[in-house]
Amino acid sequence: MEDRRDRAAGNGTLFGKLADGTEVHRWALENGGTRLKVLDYGGVVQSLEIPDRHGHHRNVSLGFDTIEDYVASSPYFGALIGRYGNRIGDGRFTLDGTPHRVDVNDGANSLHGGGRGFDSRMWDVEPFTQGSDVGLYLSRTSADGEMGYPGTLEVKVTYTLTERGDWRIDYEATTDRTTVVNLTSHVYWNLAGEGSGSVHDHELWIAASRYTPVDSGLIPTGELAEVAGTPFDFRRAKTVGEDLRVAHEQLLYAKGMDHNWVLDKGATAKPLPVATLRDPVSGRTLRVSTTEPGLQFYSGNFLDGTLVGTGGNVYRQGDALCLETQHFPDSPNKPSFPSTVLRPGQTYRSTTVHSFDR
Ligand code: GLA
Repeated sequence: MEDRRDRAAGNGTLFGKLADGTEVHRWALENGGTRLKVLDYGGVVQSLEIPDRHGHHRNVSLGFDTIEDYVASSPYFGALIGRYGNRIGDGRFTLDGTPHRVDVNDGANSLHGGGRGFDSRMWDVEPFTQGSDVGLYLSRTSADGEMGYPGTLEVKVTYTLTERGDWRIDYEATTDRTTVVNLTSHVYWNLAGEGSGSVHDHELWIAASRYTPVDSGLIPTGELAEVAGTPFDFRRAKTVGEDLRVAHEQLLYAKGMDHNWVLDKGATAKPLPVATLRDPVSGRTLRVSTTEPGLQFYSGNFLDGTLVGTGGNVYRQGDALCLETQHFPDSPNKPSFPSTVLRPGQTYRSTTVHSFDR
């Protein structure tokens, strides 16, 4: 492992240092018109540039210029999320009769793997070229008991930039004790360019007839509710802002949209198209395909004008949105939801493809 790390570090450039002296590196990849910059801290996508219809590149992902900002105040900008994307109610669940307590960091609940989730851990990074693809292998071992989760989890994430400029993420994990896993990526998208203002005029399509309503702590109630006749209906593309101010109880709980959509296709072996986001002004278009059964659409509700991003501008509420492919929140406590349990001998696999058009 040490060797591999050293070789990889040779290819990254120094981005900064953590308080304990650990060096954080940044890798830059380019293929098919897409330019990606990735940190070994959190597997963070620090910058993602794509062209508009005139060929003008902009960074469409919110982020920071310094490692100090990421450590001090990142709301998961561009980060890998684990072991469990989104919330686990009360930070408790029972597996095969054994109760487990995981780190509570969001009111009474556990969010995105706890206070020190995968987003703030160091990853081993190794660049690769394979045919016309370029990419990075990211890996880390999450120790048995990390943030309260059972089992030593060996995690491998592959970021690939394809010849046509698609960004593909393949996740893989194995465990030596029965555990739960739900990995995702927390890019904040603004297709007009980070720091350019609100995304409320972006058009969004989500292939889901149902979503999982939540309680006031944003924990799913267990119900799969129809989107028909609600602000949550994106089966025909509409602007993000169109129904965001409707006086719907669910929007009050989350200060906007921060919910899991139940994708009509369900869990699939191959990634299938589930969402499209388009900025009508620049033409930049993001198409998301995934193997996952769920999609968290978060409308940037908690951005509050206190963070200054890579371009030197302040991020305010609604200045970006997240489309996090996932299993449903709180699945370990919801037997009716698709299972997030991983047992020794099994391999967790998940794939999400981000395709860009203009
Ligand atoms: C997820 C959660 C939100 C929020 C954001 C980051 O989308 O569901 O509640 O935590 O991440 O702030």
